[in-house]
Amino acid sequence: MVRKAVLPVAGWGTRFLPATKAMPKEMFPIIDKPVVQFIVEECLHAGVENIIFVTGRHKRPIEHHFDINTDLEKHLEQGGKDELLANIREFSRLTNPIYIRQKEQLGLGHAVLVSEPVVGNEPFVVALGDVIIDGEENVIRRMIEIHERFGKSVVAVFEVDRKKVSKYGIVSGKFIEEDVYLIDDLVEKPKEEEAPSNLAIVGRYLFTPKIFEKLKITPVGKGGEIQLTDAIKLMLEDEVVYSIKVNAKVYDTGTPIGYLMTLVEFALERKDIKDEFLEFLEHTVSRYNQRTGKA
Ligand code: G1P
Repeated sequence: MVRKAVLPVAGWGTRFLPATKAMPKEMFPIIDKPVVQFIVEECLHAGVENIIFVTGRHKRPIEHHFDINTDLEKHLEQGGKDELLANIREFSRLTNPIYIRQKEQLGLGHAVLVSEPVVGNEPFVVALGDVIIDGEENVIRRMIEIHERFGKSVVAVFEVDRKKVSKYGIVSGKFIEEDVYLIDDLVEKPKEEEAPSNLAIVGRYLFTPKIFEKLKITPVGKGGEIQLTDAIKLMLEDEVVYSIKVNAKVYDTGTPIGYLMTLVEFALERKDIKDEFLEFLEHTVSRYNQRTGKA
């Protein structure tokens, strides 16, 4: 049974400075819900209820967000805001968060290693704090199914344009069945000409505890950091690792442009604001085109 998910949220958020100086990028709102809440909900919907945040300095707002706020509940109750109240109450009581500090930011691989005393000797999920996967199917649940069938680790991937491979961990593998592969190679952020495929790691992993053994001997890699991708490659020496292809929409909220695109797409799905927002977008684009002579 997979009961635990590790969410590494200790990163500096340098791509968003100065906004991330005192505010975690995982708390940036997608309209009115912080990014990290989408990821926690994805874990909960897959039946994984113990959420282990690997956190750092400046990340306190995440702890407050998943806590019960009795003052706020009282305030909403007195104001008769029943729907908001129910929503907030339900959510803060669903999660069972555990916080562990990554004292030094030595990379994603190191962040996962820090969780070992809490995870222990059992399979666990890793879900990155800035990637939202939006689709009918729950990717974590599908990874758990594959793990239950084969008993090994699973890495979720998605197809990217070859020009973008240098932004991701890239995986190549042998076809097993529809959208399932046995990984034979992985490279963290390769150059386009060195990429073994265009299948990029999407930020959802399911590991056997073997990964900890490998993380302990993973040398410093790309960007001077201990890379999770390198540890998975080391794991291939002892165990097979599966990958599954995600066909849902992937939103990388960890860059300004990715964040902006996510906001626009989510706004266009919201019944309460869609019409006004669409009208605004159309006007803005048409004014822009007139001003720049594109119309
Ligand atoms: C991390 C991983 C990379 C993965 C990516 C997904 O990179 O190292 O392998 O493809 O997340 O978002 P980061 O985006 O943290 O640089």
